[in-house]
Amino acid sequence: MIITVINQKGGVGKTTTSVNLAYVLSKSKKVGLLDLDPEGGSTISLGIRKAEQELPIGANFINIHGIDLFYAHVGLLNKEMNGEIDEVTKEIKSSENNHDVLIIDTPPNLGTLSVSAMLVADKVIAPVTPLFLSIEAVKNLGSRLQSLEKRAIAFTNASNKPIKVDLQSISFIDTYIPNSKIFQEAVRLGIPATKYEEVKSKKGKIWSSYDKLSKYIIE
Ligand SMILES: Nc1ncnc2c1ncn2[C@@H]1O[C@H](COP(=O)(O)OP(=O)(O)O)[C@@H](O)[C@H]1O
Ligand SMILES: [Mg+2]
Repeated sequence: MIITVINQKGGVGKTTTSVNLAYVLSKSKKVGLLDLDPEGGSTISLGIRKAEQELPIGANFINIHGIDLFYAHVGLLNKEMNGEIDEVTKEIKSSENNHDVLIIDTPPNLGTLSVSAMLVADKVIAPVTPLFLSIEAVKNLGSRLQSLEKRAIAFTNASNKPIKVDLQSISFIDTYIPNSKIFQEAVRLGIPATKYEEVKSKKGKIWSSYDKLSKYIIE
């Protein structure tokens, strides 16, 4: 199963969602996390450096915190600028091999990499923050999804209550991820926030919100 995390707006929590969903799901499934962002958000969040060599997409992974991370590398930018959607989708599919779930973190745009990741997805999920510009951005995402004949599930990130917007191709679920300082701290340490919380204080609020989200997506 391929789960693509998308929203062309930066800073809404795509990387945070990808890393924490991957960690929560890795407890019961074999999980791959494909970092398709040339900036390497998921790679860096898991304490790994971007690779300096140009690789095919999904060619190399490293197991970290129980997740098979297909780390970012310098070739992603070239694919973004010059890659063909057919070729990119084929490469993405090859990294699904041997995994129950492949989660894809995408860059903050709707270019070749993001569109390819939406096309191959079994589920597209969009984190949305409760700010005006984020809500405007999700409307544009809705139009793009409609033109690709895809649907997405949206959930609320960094909020103490869920938001809902009526859009044809995006269904808002009532799940939300709370706003917490743990996220910044976990990125600094190169571990998923869910693992940070698990180690510090057993499974708590952050864990249970991602667990709820994962169950909604998988079932
Ligand atoms: N629920 C949250 N509460 C507090 N901070 C968050 C939350 N989700 C994400 N962040 C922080 O917001 C910033 C942007 O998140 P990120 O996942 O990198 O967004 P994107 O990948 O969409 O650009 C990061 O510093 C991250 O730690
Ligand atoms: Mg990111």
